[in-house]
Amino acid sequence: MAADIIDGKAFAAALREKVGEAARAFGDKAGRKAGLAVVLVGDDPASQVYVGSKGKATVAAGMASFEHRLPEATSQQELEALVRQLNADPAVDGILVQLPLPEHLDDKAVIALIDPDKDVDGLTDTNIARLANQQDGLFPCTPVGCMMLLADRLGDLSGRNAVVIGRSQLVGRPMAQLLVNANATVTIAHSRTRDLPQVVRGADIVIAAVGRPEMVRGDWIAPGATVIDVGINRLDPEPGASKGRLVGDVAFDEAREVAGAITPVPGGVGPMTIAVLLRNALVAAYRHEG
Ligand code: GUN
Repeated sequence: MAADIIDGKAFAAALREKVGEAARAFGDKAGRKAGLAVVLVGDDPASQVYVGSKGKATVAAGMASFEHRLPEATSQQELEALVRQLNADPAVDGILVQLPLPEHLDDKAVIALIDPDKDVDGLTDTNIARLANQQDGLFPCTPVGCMMLLADRLGDLSGRNAVVIGRSQLVGRPMAQLLVNANATVTIAHSRTRDLPQVVRGADIVIAAVGRPEMVRGDWIAPGATVIDVGINRLDPEPGASKGRLVGDVAFDEAREVAGAITPVPGGVGPMTIAVLLRNALVAAYRHEG
């Protein structure tokens, strides 16, 4: 039987609606809008698109958007000065520095400067520690969005076997930590993992976050498993087409024949990331107002 399709787009739209209502309530209470600042350095086309969408979604949710687009030649000092200024600005509740930064900039030093209570990406050491210690904090948007989809689909994750493929700071590692905090049994698989197909076959929950098009095959998936595909990869264009197809890290057509439920690409995890970003910014705003 074909898997249920997890409609991340609809889930994200409902979440954005809820955040919009809460943002209005925040405005009435605080006498100002919650504010999210997004910093983009350079002219990477994909990042330009992401930052544009984040700004639009912020305004649509009734929040103030502060976009800072800096030239490729921006120095470390200039970027750090901007982060300090945003840290000090009471109209700014959340700060996101779009990654990757141009090569000549030190992303770790920039992230370390962000006020942890404005760190809507959850990338500062303070928020990583809070996640590990099961304290309140701000946690990376994509993994939080995946957890929401899993909770909606499966309810309690206690005792379930989860395999996270990928160990990035932004997705794999925090994803694994969130799953452990929810009492799942978690394996983090990566490029050095031996016999990955066999590891994935033991999973009730598969999170694919490696950035390799259609790497996870249908015969790796245990019957009935829940598959969350974080990958967004553009294939080379077919002859005559101007753009290649977007695919995930999972071979969707194969996996949907075996899985119990699966997120599509596009329309699965992607829309959740922005919805959770707005939620994180609003959570930060409420905390700032006490
Ligand atoms: N680049 C791609 N995704 C993200 C994200 O979620 N946050 C940041 N800061 N940069 C990104």
